[in-house]
Amino acid sequence: MDAIATTDFIHVYEPGSDTGRPPLLLLHGTGGDEHDLLGLGRMVAPGASLLSPRGRVLEGPMPRFFRRLSEGVFDEDDLRRRTHELADFVEQARERYRLAAPVAVGFSNGANIAASLLLLRPEVLAGAALLRAMSPFVEPPQADLAGKPVLILSGAMDPIVPTQDVEQLARTLSGSGASVDHRVLPAGHGLSQADIGLLEGWLAMR
Ligand code: MLT
Repeated sequence: MDAIATTDFIHVYEPGSDTGRPPLLLLHGTGGDEHDLLGLGRMVAPGASLLSPRGRVLEGPMPRFFRRLSEGVFDEDDLRRRTHELADFVEQARERYRLAAPVAVGFSNGANIAASLLLLRPEVLAGAALLRAMSPFVEPPQADLAGKPVLILSGAMDPIVPTQDVEQLARTLSGSGASVDHRVLPAGHGLSQADIGLLEGWLAMR
């Protein structure tokens, strides 16, 4: 399907055929766009509706979901603002397309804003799969994530995400009540076959 330009986010919406599955909110990594994760979404959740926005921040030519000051150092004011913009977009898209609350599937920068959505606007998501995420906030806000399912897949050899950082994220989310399944894979920052299998299995239970 072609990308749709609206006043909010450029995005792709693909209606699903299986109403029993929650829709997926697909959030790409730095330099990606709204088409990047569609193939992954179709593979791991056949029949699910897919909502895939493009990040509105540009770092050079590369779309992102929020600004960073340097690698792994985030502009937290911008992150907060962009998180609310994305949450508002999801709420509008739910009305426009008549969707249930989506499960976010975010990779890298997309996983980081998905974690921020969980912490700042938890009602927007039914759950989240965070692929190669890090802690979005130095001092995370209090959130009520009671029972919210979260899958975190991190890479033991990831040169971008320090292990302590993603462990901190897992602690923050479970401390807020989320039901967190954190797996560390023998991988780097890129996704592996193991990621796809785990993601597919976790999504089948939603
Ligand atoms: C970020 O900026 O969100 C993380 O460093 C991941 C990345 O996009 O490289």
